[in-house]
Order: sequence, then C-alpha cells, then structure tokens
Amino acid sequence: MKVKQSVKLTLTGIASKGMAVGRTTAGVVVFVKDAVPGDVAMVYLYKKRKSYFEGRLEKLISPSPDRISAKCSHFGICGGCQWQHLSYSSQLEHKLEEVHQNFIKIGSFDFPKFESIIPSRSQYNYRNKMEYSFSNSRWLTKAEIESGEAMNRNALGFHKPRMWDKIVHIEECHLQQEPGNEIRNFIHQYALDKGITYFDLKQKTGQLRSMMIRTTTTGQIMLVVQFFEDRASQRVALFEAIVERFPRVTSLQYIVNQKANDSIYDQDVILHSGSPYIEEEMEGLRFQITPKSFYQTNSLQAHELYKITRDLAGLTGDEIVYDLYTGLGTIAQFVAKRAKHVVGIEAIPEAIAAAKENAKRNKLSNLSFISGDMKKVFTDDFIARHGAPDVVITDPPREGMHKEVVLQLIAILPKRIVYVSCNSATQARDLSLMQDHYVIQKVQPVDMFPHTQHVENVVLLKRVHA
Ligand SMILES: C[S@@+](CC[C@H](N)C(=O)[O-])C[C@H]1O[C@@H](n2cnc3c(N)ncnc32)[C@H](O)[C@@H]1O
Repeated sequence: MKVKQSVKLTLTGIASKGMAVGRTTAGVVVFVKDAVPGDVAMVYLYKKRKSYFEGRLEKLISPSPDRISAKCSHFGICGGCQWQHLSYSSQLEHKLEEVHQNFIKIGSFDFPKFESIIPSRSQYNYRNKMEYSFSNSRWLTKAEIESGEAMNRNALGFHKPRMWDKIVHIEECHLQQEPGNEIRNFIHQYALDKGITYFDLKQKTGQLRSMMIRTTTTGQIMLVVQFFEDRASQRVALFEAIVERFPRVTSLQYIVNQKANDSIYDQDVILHSGSPYIEEEMEGLRFQITPKSFYQTNSLQAHELYKITRDLAGLTGDEIVYDLYTGLGTIAQFVAKRAKHVVGIEAIPEAIAAAKENAKRNKLSNLSFISGDMKKVFTDDFIARHGAPDVVITDPPREGMHKEVVLQLIAILPKRIVYVSCNSATQARDLSLMQDHYVIQKVQPVDMFPHTQHVENVVLLKRVHA
C-alpha cells in the first residue's frame, strides 16, 4: 500500500495522540486524524510509518453513534482538544482502555479489575492555567490565503501543531476558565489599537511574546506577560488598562525574555502590581501559587484526585509519609493531619519555598520540604536523616520516575505506595520494576482533562512481605 491515496476504513479504536485506528481489508493498520471509533470513512493516507500508516479523514461515509458536534469554532485547527467531537461517555471509555492497554502491553505484572473511571466534575472551562503566544504570523485558513486580501496577521493564541512559526488566533477557548477569554481578547484588542508589536519568531523582533493566565476558585487571578523587546511606557500603560478593567487580576507580573525559547523557568519574573502569588483553597487549606510552580490544572477535579490519594494512603496518624514530586506541597498538606510526619521533595526551589510558607500559614507543623533533583535527594543518607517512610505517595511528571528512584523505593520497601500518574505508559514501566516486591491492590483512573486524550491514574501498591 502506498501513501497519497484514499482507502475506505471502519474505525475501531483509539491510537496514540487521540487518533482513531482501523485496519484495511488487507489488515494494514491506519491511524486517522479527526475520526472517532465507529466512523466509516474515506481516509487519505499521508504518511507511512514502520508498522502503520497515518491518514486524515477525507469523507465521512457513516458517522459513529458516539460522534457529536464540537462546541468550539477552533476545534480541529488549534490542536488543544482532540476529542470534542466524541461523546463524553465514550471519551471516558477510551481513556480507561488506554490505561488498561498500557498495563497489559508495557507492564508485566498482575493487576486487579480497574475501578470505573471518575468523570471530571466539569467538562468545559475547567482549566485554571492557560498559556498563549503572540505572533505577527497568524495561521491563515485556505480561504483567507486564496482571497489575496491584505490583512493584519497579529495573532494571540496557540501554536498550530507541527508549524512552529504559526499561531492560531483564539477568540474563545472552552477549556479556559473565565474571565480568561475576556482578558486575552481585551489584551489583543488593546495591543492592536495602540500598535504594540507582536513577536516575530523568525526575525526575533517585537514586544509581546507570550502570556499566562491563572485563575483560582478563590477568585484571584494571575497574569504573567512575557516581552521580547521591552518598552516601559507602553508596558505600564497596558498593565494599567488591564488592572482597571479586571480588578480581579491580583497578581500582575512580567518577564523580559530575549533568549531563543520562551520557557520562563530560567527567567526573572518581575512584579508589576499586586501580590507575587495567587491563592487556591481546598478543605480550608490555602495554597500560594507562584508563576513557576506546578498546580493541578483542573482545580475541582484535583480535589477528587487528592481525596482518592489520601484514602488509598490508609493513614492512621502514626506514619512517616514521603510525598515525592510534591510541587507546592499540596498532597503533603492534604494528608498531614492523618500522618505523624510528612516529607515533601520537589525539584523547583521556588515551589518548595512556597510549600514551606503554605504549611506555616495552614498551621501545619509536621511537614518538612526539601528541594532538589529526586534521584540526588532521595538517598540512603536522606532517609536516615528523615526516617524511613511507612507510606510513599509519588506523583512524577510525564516521564515517570527515574530508574534510580524506583530502585531506591525497592531498597527501602515502604509498606504502601500510592502512585499518581498523568502518563500510564511510564507508570506501567515503573510498576514493572517493582513487581517482585509489591502487589497492585487498586487501579483508579480519574479524568482531569476532558476533550483531550490525557488521563490521570492512581495505583495502590502493597508490599508483598508484611
Ligand atoms: C505532576 S507534578 C505533581 C505536583 C504535586 N504532587 C501536585 O499534585 O500538585 C510533578 C512535579 O514534579 C516536579 N519534578 C519534575 N522532575 C523532578 C525531579 N527530577 N526531581 C524532583 N521533582 C521533579 C515538577 O516540578 C512538578 O512539581
């Protein structure tokens, strides 16, 4: 079979990156963009991979019963949501199946029947953090290109997938909590009216480069604007206009970044007005969130995730608990009242400083927070100093745990491990290494990210030998 031809396919499942998958009558596997399981469609093959083809939906012959119409006008273009055209119940089924498949294919361990996946408390406007890019090279539709008309190309939105230099301008994002959309649109209009220049990715010129909006259930909002060229008077005027229009922006900060990439982690963040942090609240605990620190992006569902984690930890008040990859120390503080002592470890020093401050303000004294790279911090010496953990809670980034961290867990053998993961493939890999020492007692997937293929998964491990 060759590329640049169309084939008729019945889509039967979900493959990586949220694409649908089907087989031709000859048994050739095809991953299809924009299709959903259950569709019968003509598919145009555009790429041949080692063991499969990639194609895009060319003509829908008969739509899947799980197909719905997407709510968003940017759907299929911006790349942020893969599944707005799939019913929510079907999304949940496929997420559960993905975790299941990863456990079967990557893990070589026994596991119990999965608990049914916990749906997100809200399906839209659930994200408390959004990052948008400014660009003078807006992605244009075919009709716009063919019209030949001169037009303003300034855009504020998301990178077009696989086009590093094009930004899809966003008018309304249905994942972002309000007033995020209003703030973004206000800034775009203001910048157009006042002639503030947008970043030129190729020439490396222009003022506005990116921005991050963070909202909270307490009502406080953080806005961090990144500039390439900084013109102080225009910056100050823009910020004053924002604060006047949106008094809920209680933390307004900026960065002047002239390096090649727009990552903020090695940059100084300068406070323009308000506080250097915003506060989130959960069960009476307050968490200060600073620009660089991680906080779960779906706040309501984070509460569900933490309750599950706390329940599975099975604490009685006598345990030493380690919270690996603690971020702002949220899980650590969430379980602290049921533990003797909790030790949180996290790479970002600023997050650890905030975790300590949070614990103090929450009047919790049975916590220690240490910053550093996990594999360097979580050593025999460290454990001798802080006491061997009875229970470990671990919530690593998508890459999972470093092998040395897993080996250290096996060496110290805590009674129970609660492994929270946003990537069940790396989770399954890590769990395989532990199978001689731990049994998997419970697998609880949780949906934190409706309309995307991402799924959170919590696993309870119990030491084999009491
Ligand atoms: C998925 S987040 C979990 C945060 C926290 N448990 C929560 O629920 O908010 C993963 C965290 O691991 C941290 N991290 C990433 N790599 C690390 C490393 N090598 N050592 C220590 N922490 C790391 C990140 O900074 C991030 O805060």
